[in-house]
Formats: sequence, structure tokens, C-alpha cells
Amino acid sequence: MKKILSIVGARPQFIKHAPMQLELQKHFQAMTIHTGQHYDENMSAVFFDELGIPKPDFLFDIGGSKPQGEQTGIMMTEIEKVCLAEKPDALLVYGDTNSTLAGTLVAAKMHIPLIHIEAGLRSFNRDMPEEVNRIVADEFAYMLFCPTDGAIENLKKEGITHERIFRCGDVMCDMVKMMEPRAQAPVDYPYYFATIHRPYNTDDAERMKAILQIFNTLDQKVIFSIHPRTVARLKQYGLEVADYTNIQFLPPMGYAESVAYQKFSDCVITDSGGIQKEAYILKKKCITLRSETEWTETLENGWNTLVFEHLNQIPDILKTVPGAYREGIYGDGHAAAEITNIIAANL
Ligand code: UD1
Ligand code: UDP
Repeated sequence: MKKILSIVGARPQFIKHAPMQLELQKHFQAMTIHTGQHYDENMSAVFFDELGIPKPDFLFDIGGSKPQGEQTGIMMTEIEKVCLAEKPDALLVYGDTNSTLAGTLVAAKMHIPLIHIEAGLRSFNRDMPEEVNRIVADEFAYMLFCPTDGAIENLKKEGITHERIFRCGDVMCDMVKMMEPRAQAPVDYPYYFATIHRPYNTDDAERMKAILQIFNTLDQKVIFSIHPRTVARLKQYGLEVADYTNIQFLPPMGYAESVAYQKFSDCVITDSGGIQKEAYILKKKCITLRSETEWTETLENGWNTLVFEHLNQIPDILKTVPGAYREGIYGDGHAAAEITNIIAANL
């Protein structure tokens, strides 16, 4: 049996890995590295328990969060050691985090075929660490799995046109489809559901304050699942959650709860990549506090609206009703099986 070593490290990657691991283990010796990029119980272990993901074969203690280069460097050192010992037939990475970059660079240097899931996405904003990470992963990947036609087009424009680029569904859609029927309505509706964690929204005190201020003035309460990066910034800026009486701050929640809070909200307000997509799959209107998105299909007919400089547009957008909805743009919920069959046929 061929050996595939998957690399995960951040919250959305545990969720993407859950359906993939189930399928991979049918065809391969499917081993997992958890780089330790996210380490809090509610950012990491909770997903392994809740989604029934086997414990990672390797879990690095990278000593907490670090600057970009140091974090990536430590992960590379550790991934390389595992690859030297385990001699995998392929490395598999998801999306665009620093864990993805570390896995990509080790694969490239050690001449191990790299499989990139969620390939071809672009924000065209090279200030984002994620944009750098995904460009590098796509450049070096041996097999690329693109969730949208736009992603294939992006690769073509960069001259990445070989025959191992595949258009498949999105593995996050598999998870939403699995979880949605079980989602229980939270007791506290109506509400808007929010998550904010991108550096351009959190790492400037005035920007962070402006976001909280607008949330505090909306016509319905805002349930805000607060990412540890954001918690750290609020503390650093001396902002008191008690001063924002229209916002209910909740610690990061498990996956079922996240899907339920989205599904029963009146609108999702976020800067998360995964949540923009999940909101669309759940037919929920979304406002994205960014100036660009990789998930451009969600913008059609007002299902998702980008707001960056003019936060005061939010109340008006909350009143709009989205138009026609396109079914199935992220697949039918069987992407992991589709992807794994292609890997089995091509590796
Ligand atoms: C990372 C990814 C981002 C992804 C996000 C998903 C990169 C460059 N960024 O961003 O693409 O959208 O994960 O959630 O890979 N922290 C904790 N506990 C944890 C994890 C993080 O306290 O378990 C805090 C630390 O203060 C740390 C900060 O969060 O400094 C940032 O963590 P890091 O993993 O560097 O980036 P994220 O913002 O989580
Ligand atoms: N999510 C979760 N609990 C939360 C907030 C988000 O399970 O409290 C899930 C969400 O449903 C989605 C994923 O985490 O599946 C998105 O991850 P995140 O926003 O951290 O990263 P991004 O997608 O922006 O890289």
C-alpha cells in the first residue's frame, strides 16, 4: 500500500481533513502530521474528537505562535525529519496556511510528490501570507485539486497547465452537507453570526474598534465567535468586551455549533474564507469584511458582499434580499471520495 502523509495545522484544515482521511484510509496507508500551528483545545483537539478524525501520527510542539518565518521554519525542520523516517509516497496539503507552505517546501526539496487540495484560489492580494503560501503550493504541486472553474483559470494564467490539475467539488461542502441536517437551532435568535481574525481587521487598534463599534449598533445582537488572535488583540488594545452590549462574545466553538449558528442566523458577517463558502452552501447571506475574496462565485446576486473601508454600509446591506441562487457550485458533498479516487489512479 502506498503511504500518503497529510499535513494539517490550523482549524479549517482539521475540518477539510475529516472527510479526506475517511476516504484516504480506504486506499492508502494514510498518516497525518499535525504541525501544532493551532494548539488550543477549542482550535484543535475539539475537531479531532467531534469529527472522529484519528489522532495524528505526529504532533509537533512548536512552542506556541511565532513570527511567520520562524513558525514556518520550525515546521519544515520537523516535517523533514518525519519524511526522512517515513519515506512517504506523497505529501498532501490543504489550502493556504503556514503549515501548507512548510509541507510544500519540504516536499519540493525532498522530491516527494505533493498533492494540493483547494488549489488555484487567489485573492490577488500578495500582502496576505495566505496568498504567498498558496502560490508556492500550486507551483510545486504534482497533483492539484481545484474546487471552482475560476481556480483552474487562475492556474492557467500563471502557466500551470499540466495534466494533473483536476476540477472536483470542495471538501468543506462534504462537511456542511453532512452536518446541516443535524444542526439544532440555537435558542438565542434572531442574531447575526460573526467571526473576525484576519490581520488587516485585527492588527490595527482603530480598525478593530471600528468593527466592534458597528457590530454594537446593529438592529440585532451579534454572536461573535472570537478567534484567539482577536482575543489577544482586544487585550493588547485594552478593549473591554463588557462595553459592547449588543455583542455576545463566545469562545471558538465546535464544528456542529458553527454550522448551526450560521444556518439559523439572519446574516453571517466574517473575514473567514471557509465561512464565506459555508454560508453560501447554507443559503445564508454573508457580509465579508475584506476588499477582495478568493470565493468570487459567492458574490453573485448579493449572497455575499465585500465591505472594507465603509463599514457604515453594513446596516443597509443587512436589509437587502439576495437574488437567484446557484446550486451545487461547490459540489454535491462527495468531493473527498472523488479526489481520493483520482489520487489512487494517478499516484
Ligand atoms: C491561521 C492562518 C489563516 C487561517 C487561520 C484559521 C496562516 C498564515 N494563517 O491564522 O490563513 O485563516 O489560521 O483560523 O497560516 N493563537 C492561540 N491559540 C491557538 C492558535 C493561535 O492563542 O491555538 C493565537 C496566537 O496569539 C497567535 C495568533 O493566534 O499569535 C495567530 O495564530 P497563527 O496560527 O499564526 O495565525 P492565525 O491568525 O490563526
Ligand atoms: N469554525 C468553527 N468554530 C468557530 C468558528 C469557525 O468550527 O468558532 C469553522 C467554520 O465553520 C469553518 C472553519 O472553522 O469550517 C473556518 O475556519 P477559519 O475561519 O478559522 O479559517 P479560514 O477558513 O478563514 O482559513
